[in-house]
Amino acid sequence: MKHLMTILLAMMASATMAQTLTSPDGMLKAEFSLDAQGRPTYNLSFKGKTVVADSHLGLLLKGDNADMADFCTGFKVAGVDHAAFDETWKPVWGEESEIRNHYNEMTVRLDQPRNERSLVVRFRLFNDGLGFRYEFPESKNLVYFVIAEEQSEFRMTADHTAWWIAGDYDTQEYEWQTSRLSEIRGRMEKAIAPNSSQTPAGPTTVQTALQLRTDDGLYINLHEASCINYSTMHLTYNDNPSDKDGYRKFVSHLTPDAQGNKGHIQTPSVSPWRTIIVGESGKDILASRMTLNLNEPCKLEDTSWIRPTKYVGVWWEMISGKSSWAYTDDVFSVQLGKTDYQKVKPNGRHGANTDHVKRYIDFAAEHGFDAVLVEGWNVGWEDWFGNQKDYVFDFVTPYPDFDLKAITDYARQKGVEMIMHHETSSSTINYERHLEDAYRFMNKWGYKSVKSGYVGNIVPYGEHHYSQPLNNHYLYCIQKAAEHKIMVNAHEATRPTGICRTYPNWIGNESARGTEYESFGGNPVNHTTVLPFTRMIGGPMDYTPGIFEMDCSRANPSNDSRVRSTLARQLGLYLVLYSPLQMAADMIENYEPHMDAFQFIKDVPVDWQQSVYLEAEPGEYVTIARKDKHSENWFVGSSVGEEGHLSVIGLDFLTPGQKYEATIYADGKDASWDKNPQSYAITRKKVTSRSTLKIQSASGGGFAISLKAINN
Ligand code: NOJ
Ligand code: CA
Repeated sequence: MKHLMTILLAMMASATMAQTLTSPDGMLKAEFSLDAQGRPTYNLSFKGKTVVADSHLGLLLKGDNADMADFCTGFKVAGVDHAAFDETWKPVWGEESEIRNHYNEMTVRLDQPRNERSLVVRFRLFNDGLGFRYEFPESKNLVYFVIAEEQSEFRMTADHTAWWIAGDYDTQEYEWQTSRLSEIRGRMEKAIAPNSSQTPAGPTTVQTALQLRTDDGLYINLHEASCINYSTMHLTYNDNPSDKDGYRKFVSHLTPDAQGNKGHIQTPSVSPWRTIIVGESGKDILASRMTLNLNEPCKLEDTSWIRPTKYVGVWWEMISGKSSWAYTDDVFSVQLGKTDYQKVKPNGRHGANTDHVKRYIDFAAEHGFDAVLVEGWNVGWEDWFGNQKDYVFDFVTPYPDFDLKAITDYARQKGVEMIMHHETSSSTINYERHLEDAYRFMNKWGYKSVKSGYVGNIVPYGEHHYSQPLNNHYLYCIQKAAEHKIMVNAHEATRPTGICRTYPNWIGNESARGTEYESFGGNPVNHTTVLPFTRMIGGPMDYTPGIFEMDCSRANPSNDSRVRSTLARQLGLYLVLYSPLQMAADMIENYEPHMDAFQFIKDVPVDWQQSVYLEAEPGEYVTIARKDKHSENWFVGSSVGEEGHLSVIGLDFLTPGQKYEATIYADGKDASWDKNPQSYAITRKKVTSRSTLKIQSASGGGFAISLKAINN
């Protein structure tokens, strides 16, 4: 009896002993405690209002027995350390040239005496949110282990509005849904509209970054940072009111590997950071640098070869179906490097042919673009379309009509770089077989960057795009590329978690529904007003904006898709969707009739000194001003949803006393995405920091402004 009393008293003591952490500005407060079962528990509040109510932490492991599998309960606090950090660092490229990393930290060291093992939970509280992660120190019974599921909870306080896409282990190319949390289940079927490869994760499981808004106007964003040697996290929502403890909680849901396991861990190691960004406006969320700050500093000593790049390419014509990646329509087996193409009938629609590529090189040179991307240059597409999955591409054998030597010489002479394309056919084994040779080949021919892609189901069969082995694959490619001074833009790879801070040669990712879908039926009209709050919290996106011809049937009569945007908005996207790698994605013939509007794409930089978020409401409008990294010039871009929007913009971000010439590219009076997308108006005026601009954007519209510093 006495013994039981002692245990009870000890449990109560530990259950009530809350550890507190406050943000540097004192507005955010996080608390840590152990509950009666010795379960790590945290909460988060902002200005006294609860953001995340008491939520549990821990993991379920694969274990020989239930006791060993439980890494959630029976903990006792072995020690708590507090620290503070304040440092300003300079990214190699980014939305601003200096980033302040300022937080208070609390490290909670936990022992699970029953199983003779330890766990550390590290919290970092910034002025803009909370990050926490697990650390797995090597202890007697924690050397190697397998994760069955992570059990990190995020308990919501009410039925918030959410911007979400369906949880899926293999695609992120879904349309964003806007709904109450309680409506997620009812919307799920619609949310998982058919996609090229998909493995939905559950009826209430969604992806991160998940954007939330409370009814009293708080903006909350849930995501992760530094997802390395770990699988990608989804969140499962508990909408069952009869589950008193679980109701309204999100619980982490990791991507399984081919065997259904969620992580193979060797201690000592750490989990990714789980992030909760908090703000009083949409602008606060977009201005947060927490995701980058929670990543390790740059690991590359020499970064002089990493350069933000603006490019054009032989691309939209294949996407819209005007030309083809493959050289022939015949179904035949390609013997990589050995096939006699003289015996094959060309289809006459192969985009990557020498003359055509030279035309793009000319265009890039004439208009000051850095580079040209060419897809469909290498053999293997016939095999892939014929359904071979593994040994498809070797990444070094050009098609017979792609004269690599002539193209390389021509591009060099014109001062234009070529961008390599590696469609991996999602066979990571095949890609790793060829990677070293493929990168050497790029070095030999002077290619400085590669766009890679992972379309279709993964080989090894049964693996998933976002599992731990795949996340390790993507990072391996980045690290290998860095050895070869190569920049990487990976499509269909895991959504970014800020790792580009550590490896800035990771200059791009797609990892969401990009412009290509405008040719596959269209993106929702408000799509690009949601992306900054969701996909882009983790890092830049190769969205490939700049489409001027919205009617896809002009390129391909059998394609009746329409780009759901006005032309002026396509310009605004260069600001709204930040990327150090930006494409002018349309075909030359679609730019030629609109060279006055095209001027903005020529002028807009891809690297910035400073960014100012002028107005931002997910699903409605996003307007961002950015200052060129290398001049006094500013640029503003806006994208708006179905309703249109009147922007009233004070230019007080400009340098006081300095005059600027503003060139405004706005929607025409009669513009709308569906009726008159190409109606735009260009006006010029002199402005200063005391000026205000009023610009009306059409349904599915937007605008762009260049502000050039002038002397008089
Ligand atoms: C999907 C990518 O997103 C797209 O940009 C590319 O053209 C195709 N895969 C072919 O690799
Ligand atoms: Ca894609």
